[in-house]
Amino acid sequence: MSTPILHQAYNPTVFHENGQAVLDMLHKHLTKMQDPGPTKVIDYIDPEEEYQFWKDHFPKQEKLTEFLETVLNRSIHIHHPGYIGHQVAPAVPASAVGTWMSDLMNNGSAVYEMGAANAALERLVCEYLREPLGWQQGDGFLTSGGTLANLTALLAARKAKSNTDVWSKGQSTPLAIMVSEQAHYCVDRAARIMGLGDLGLIKVPVDDQYRIKTQELEPLYEQAMNQGIQVIAMVGNAPSTATGIHDDLVALGKFAQNHDLWFHVDSAHGGAALYSDQYSFLLEGAAKADSIIIDGHKMMGTSSITTAVLFKNASHSYATFQQDAHYLWEAQEDPEWFNMGKRTFECTKSMMSLRFLSIVAEHGWSFFNDLVNTLYASGQSFAQKIVEHPDMELALEPQTNIVCFRFKSSQKNLDQLNQQIRKAIIEDGRYYIVAVQLKDGYYLRTTFMNPFTTSAHMDELIDLIISKAEHLK
Ligand SMILES: Cc1ncc(COP(=O)(O)O)c(C=O)c1O
Repeated sequence: MSTPILHQAYNPTVFHENGQAVLDMLHKHLTKMQDPGPTKVIDYIDPEEEYQFWKDHFPKQEKLTEFLETVLNRSIHIHHPGYIGHQVAPAVPASAVGTWMSDLMNNGSAVYEMGAANAALERLVCEYLREPLGWQQGDGFLTSGGTLANLTALLAARKAKSNTDVWSKGQSTPLAIMVSEQAHYCVDRAARIMGLGDLGLIKVPVDDQYRIKTQELEPLYEQAMNQGIQVIAMVGNAPSTATGIHDDLVALGKFAQNHDLWFHVDSAHGGAALYSDQYSFLLEGAAKADSIIIDGHKMMGTSSITTAVLFKNASHSYATFQQDAHYLWEAQEDPEWFNMGKRTFECTKSMMSLRFLSIVAEHGWSFFNDLVNTLYASGQSFAQKIVEHPDMELALEPQTNIVCFRFKSSQKNLDQLNQQIRKAIIEDGRYYIVAVQLKDGYYLRTTFMNPFTTSAHMDELIDLIISKAEHLK
């Protein structure tokens, strides 16, 4: 029996009024972000204080739009040109509009009938994404984030390469994955979830350019074999999170081939460069991989979280999970591309295809080319400014839009000084930058995610760093 609350909750007129109000609010927000003036990118508040604010604030009955506006005002602004921090895209409005619609439609998409259009569109997106790799015999799907995508690909690797059928029989022989010591922590986590333990992740040291030392591969492989560990996969970074530097995928691919290993490329960040006329060379060797992942919500401008897992050989994309679920699909053994829950970790999942394809529908495929070219060029320009500045030091020549650098001074502990600088920048709030621990110390880290972060913003950030440093020295 329906109740007044339920009537109100599903009232289309109320939805329209709320939707319109939120749209107006976001329109105002995005307009302001184009020329933010004194509006900060981040207004940092201590976590306990933030929690207390919401605890005190939330029970009040207030209009939905007022609640949402308060959320907006108390959050980091990813569309602010001063947002140069972690690798999250300022969502392209078209992607957000698609997500908004799909959130209302709520097509769960585990089985075909629960999202027919989404199933077909997801197949199309993955075909498009595979195109530059030349993987005509391949397949793929979308999943919720790079972390889950890496785990999914590595489970496929285990299925393909392990001497024993771990899925059915459990793990009896020790297995291992080889990966850069600079890999994102989620690869380590995936290995542990797979039950590989400490010895199951062979972390290969990197050279002074933060690329896997390819000469270390053979000895580490031999060492594992001598310990009775079966190495199943080689993982390459394209690029690594900390430095934005790409591993030598050609060499890693050859090594994997020589030892019959699964070759996986974690290109959560840099996979988007496959669609760039200027930077696709960075992915040279990726076509030799067995699997690759690409995050839409990093360098392709989509709303979070949207990741493609692509396989060179279509059958591998069906091999990861073997689950009987008679309440969902009738043909348990049949691949059935359109019943997506058979292949993804998720059962119900969001309509991620719309996050990509709303962008394409509005702006065409070349949007991705323009975005990558613009953002990577911003990385180069900023690096150049750092090199030219007498008080700054570049950690390494950037290949992407990730730039690591530090303020240099002969007067004080550099790590401590740069930590204090970062803290001061966050407290100031006009720019949001992050930090990274590299071999020789603590560095400031920027990732240019916003195509509207200009040369003038870069100069202003550098001036701000200098002025904070002057006060701290
Ligand atoms: C190289 C790499 N792999 C995986 C991930 C994890 O991706 P997600 O945050 O989408 O789970 C990241 C995130 O920064 C990354 O940089």
